[in-house]
Amino acid sequence: MTSATIESVLQEDRLFEPSPEFVKQANVSGMAAYQALCDEAERDFEGFWGRMAREQLLWHRPFAKVLNESNAPFFKWFEDGEINASYNCLERHLKTQPEKTAIIFEADDGKVTRISYRQLYHKVCQLANALKAHGVKKGDRVLIYMPMSIEVVTAMQACARIGATHSVVFGGFSAKSLHERILDAGATEVITADGQLRGGREIPLKAAVDEAFAMGGCEGVKNVIVYRRTGSKVEMRAPRDKWWHEVVQGQSDTCEPTWVGAEHPLFILYTSGSTGKPKGVQHSTGGYLLQAMLTMRWVFDHKPTDVFWCTADVGWVTGHTYITYGPLAVGATEVMFEGVPTYPNAGRFWKIIQDHKVSVFYTAPTAIRSLIKAGPDLPKKYDLSSLRILGTVGEPINPEAWMWYYKTVGKERCPIVDTWWQTETGSQLISPLPGVHALKPGSCTQPLPGIMAAIVDETGQEVPKGKGGILVIKRPWPAMIRTIWGDPQRFKNGYYPQDFKGKYYLAGDGASRDQNGYFTIMGRIDDVLNVAGHRLGTMEIESALVANPLVAEAAVVGRPDEMTGEAICAFVVLKQARPAGDAAHKIAGDLREWVGKEIGPIAKPKDIRFGDNLPKTRSGKIMRRLLRSIAKGEEITQDVSTLENPAILEQIKQVA
Ligand code: WT7
Repeated sequence: MTSATIESVLQEDRLFEPSPEFVKQANVSGMAAYQALCDEAERDFEGFWGRMAREQLLWHRPFAKVLNESNAPFFKWFEDGEINASYNCLERHLKTQPEKTAIIFEADDGKVTRISYRQLYHKVCQLANALKAHGVKKGDRVLIYMPMSIEVVTAMQACARIGATHSVVFGGFSAKSLHERILDAGATEVITADGQLRGGREIPLKAAVDEAFAMGGCEGVKNVIVYRRTGSKVEMRAPRDKWWHEVVQGQSDTCEPTWVGAEHPLFILYTSGSTGKPKGVQHSTGGYLLQAMLTMRWVFDHKPTDVFWCTADVGWVTGHTYITYGPLAVGATEVMFEGVPTYPNAGRFWKIIQDHKVSVFYTAPTAIRSLIKAGPDLPKKYDLSSLRILGTVGEPINPEAWMWYYKTVGKERCPIVDTWWQTETGSQLISPLPGVHALKPGSCTQPLPGIMAAIVDETGQEVPKGKGGILVIKRPWPAMIRTIWGDPQRFKNGYYPQDFKGKYYLAGDGASRDQNGYFTIMGRIDDVLNVAGHRLGTMEIESALVANPLVAEAAVVGRPDEMTGEAICAFVVLKQARPAGDAAHKIAGDLREWVGKEIGPIAKPKDIRFGDNLPKTRSGKIMRRLLRSIAKGEEITQDVSTLENPAILEQIKQVA
């Protein structure tokens, strides 16, 4: 986000009130209803969350204790309750609406497959039985590396059904990333597909799994289940590799759920932090599912007649919460799409909304910006009258994109919920409620009931309204991260720092509040980049670059980008002489490919600049602020008198 955009957001004074008709029908109807929920949570925090958990979830054994804070920040919610997430998503609908469509799956080529709750239940049970037959037990980790499909939801639900903890790796991550995650999680089973189809192109998945195995150390994985999606030839190594359709054959289509404690880890999901090593964010079962459901009802105002569509990939937390768990737990019909927004043309999203009569549409600002660019008037060619709520997530939305979304897509009828949350928060935490808040472009407005968000300075003091600061959450919440898999210390130090006496959850974002108490998120305050809504650590990309035999040193910073929000800029010192012209261009290309292989295509630097050295202070610290200015193409106004070799500033101004 540029400082100019921040300015404009801070000065934004347009407010868009929900229509009286919308307010009337909303699940949370009007400011007084919202306020009453917030007041209840203020007055009786545990009573409030206890009531919600009893109302929303089906418990096998009811909980007696709501919150255990004795070992903070390792909070425990509904600890003595027993539950099963898959039971809550499937069995609960078998009596009331077995034939309702759970998922409308649209493939890359346009082919549509529908599956009812009853069919999905049986499909999940069969796979769950197959996993059991492989010896997968409660608490074992299953790594899932799959395309967007009914099968990936099935795989996650099957794990949940037998109490196995899933770890989904986004299909865009490389074999190397996959390898790292298989080892870190200690997975005993991998579920993958031959390949995935996106924009008419096939991207192999099984081959990446094979490559990961070849890197060594994966002996703990006893079985690899392969779902046949593309039909391309893959290598099947017996007895480890097995076809999905063969392992489910003959399996019973019912499977008793394995009851687990509410704190049992439902999943691990890796995300980037400020070190080179991704962290496995560990989530719970009960608390996680509770907020997935509540936000479906509060933020998306879920109604039985809705057709819900979240465009995220299941490989990210948005896909976990708003494809696999939230919508199914509330019994929604949801659309799932395999492809990309621009194939076969930039009208694809609008056509899907029209064809499936989507009523609630949830996407990312980067997608909105790229669709504006591809055809600002394209939505007008489609019938979008089924829409009633629009949502965004993943990065700040610039007011211009917001206005376009509001007018051209929503026809000024549909509230936009700009939802702030993170992999670690498990569910949305700060967001307008569509039947409550007057909307302000670029602002995620107010915390949800029970979420005690604040903006503080470095000492933990709350800053006055109108001032910027550090976003913290002062009280725990049910869907929060429980720990970092295998590294509790990193969880404690990273998220509950001593700066705030270990009492506040540090989100890692800068934010400000206006006079109405509305929050505006200003972006990360740590070394984490947000590229097209994807989170990447600068250290991770630096580590990948220096692992290349040609590279002596590298520094990575972000710069604002019109389309992707932020773009990755790498400053590189080679072991050989600094290249120029075509040679520089060629090596930059090779380095991009290298990073793509080390992490995944999403981490490829957009700009690469070569220098004889990096600008450093006398004590040897890289002057990152200076690099950020250079990356942006700004005039250098900072003090560079401590620079050892000022000539390198000229060198690194050139993009290779
Ligand atoms: C970071 C979390 C949670 C789903 C996807 C991203 C940024 C997220 C917003 C928003 C401004 C946002 C923050 C946050 N972010 N939503 N509505 N407005 N910024 O999950 O990969 O864990 O990234 O995304 O910087 O810390 P994630």
